Amino acid sequence: MHITDFSLDHFSLRGRRAIVTGGNTGLGQAFTLALAKAGADVFVPTLFDDGGETAELVRAEGSRYEEQTIDITASGAPFQAVDACVAALGGVDILVNSAGISRIADVTEFGREEWDPMVAVNLTAAFDMAHEVAKRMIPQGAGKIINIASLFSFLGGLGSPAYAATKHGIVGLTRAYADELGGSGIQVNAIAPGYFKTRITEESRSDPAVNGRIIEHTPAGRWGDVADLMGATVFLASPASDFVNGHVLTVDGGYLVR
Ligand SMILES: NC(=O)c1ccc[n+]([C@@H]2O[C@H](COP(=O)([O-])OP(=O)(O)OC[C@H]3O[C@@H](n4cnc5c(N)ncnc54)[C@H](O)[C@@H]3O)[C@@H](O)[C@H]2O)c1
Repeated sequence: MHITDFSLDHFSLRGRRAIVTGGNTGLGQAFTLALAKAGADVFVPTLFDDGGETAELVRAEGSRYEEQTIDITASGAPFQAVDACVAALGGVDILVNSAGISRIADVTEFGREEWDPMVAVNLTAAFDMAHEVAKRMIPQGAGKIINIASLFSFLGGLGSPAYAATKHGIVGLTRAYADELGGSGIQVNAIAPGYFKTRITEESRSDPAVNGRIIEHTPAGRWGDVADLMGATVFLASPASDFVNGHVLTVDGGYLVR
């Protein structure tokens, strides 16, 4: 491509079909709406009932929206979700692996009961979803996979070894799949959000000591709003990022540099 050929159309997702796991609440809802605003139709496998809110937001943008209530950790569920997306929207061009859970306990209390479900949702289901979409994307010779990492892809953190382990793992998966799929025209990247105002962080925000520490440690001096993630999502899902592969894009108000 010559530099004169570049235009804002390279950020357009018109005609693309996206899956966003857990895409009807929290950060996931922002990923979904970002893709829809850029022109993509969206399919959301989720366990959360948002009362139709996300469907309404997406359809108001003129994009199609389909939702499936499904536990993506169940045997065969990732295949079923991808199959249902293809049946509903005609294919799949983009996957955002956003579904995630967090459990916190003191180190002696944090056992397999906490560890296993987090590994199942945050890591194994993300792998299974990427594996299933890769089978569809390889013959197309194109596709975008965006995994949702975390600051705990780089840090340890208190109270949840499984959160750090799964979020470090998602970066390993991102790099391995970027390496394997790059030759098939598929880019695999991750977004590492900093501290955002969602359900998952309600407890930290209501604790004045934790809340103060986070704001003080963030050069931007505030918590992230989910809308802060929308530009990065469109970029990594669009042709504008076709030579970006295996990257972890932190969207954290600068938290990691301090
Ligand atoms: N909130 C933050 O500040 C923050 C920061 C960094 C990373 N993250 C990551 O962003 C992602 C989204 O987090 P959030 O804050 O929006 O969380 P959330 O709790 O608001 O939403 C989680 C979503 O995942 C879905 N989900 C969970 N288990 C599932 C399963 N077994 N099958 C299908 N769907 C399932 C739920 O239905 C829900 O829609 C997670 O991967 C999280 O680790 C969040």
